Amino acid sequence: MPEYCVTGGTGFIAAYLVKALLEKGHTVRTTVRDPKDVGKVGFLKEFDGAKERFKIFKADLMVEGSFDEAIHGVDGVFHTASPVLVPYDDNIQANPTPPHLTSFIF
Ligand SMILES: NC(=O)c1ccc[n+]([C@@H]2O[C@H](COP(=O)([O-])OP(=O)(O)OC[C@H]3O[C@@H](n4cnc5c(N)ncnc54)[C@H](OP(=O)(O)O)[C@@H]3O)[C@@H](O)[C@H]2O)c1
Repeated sequence: MPEYCVTGGTGFIAAYLVKALLEKGHTVRTTVRDPKDVGKVGFLKEFDGAKERFKIFKADLMVEGSFDEAIHGVDGVFHTASPVLVPYDDNIQANPTPPHLTSFIF
């Protein structure tokens, strides 16, 4: 059975992906910025199959290389982690690509 990584596991879309993949019998990894934050990650561990087939990794889009371990060797990546960035560039229309869209090429 293929193994997948879903980035940003505490997010709205990612949590549904993690749940659906576990229900289909896959082994699932996810990334969060703070794996020790039980209030944010606790519900993910309650999904059916999580105890046997789910692992949480620490990763931050602003830290180069921090996703390497989480995605190493998986069969696919669902990249949903997305920082909320407040534009500070007065010329934002000329520079519209946020870092999270340029950081990952699979
Ligand atoms: N929801 C929708 O209806 C919808 C529709 C179309 C497109 N999208 C797109 O789909 C993506 C996910 O949407 P969503 O609604 O699931 O977003 P969300 O609920 O805000 O989840 C995004 C996740 O990204 C993580 N994150 C934030 N900053 C990060 C950083 N610097 N490094 C690593 N992770 C970081 C956060 O996790 P932690 O803080 O726990 O690490 C957060 O849980 C976004 O790009 C959004 O634009 C969403």
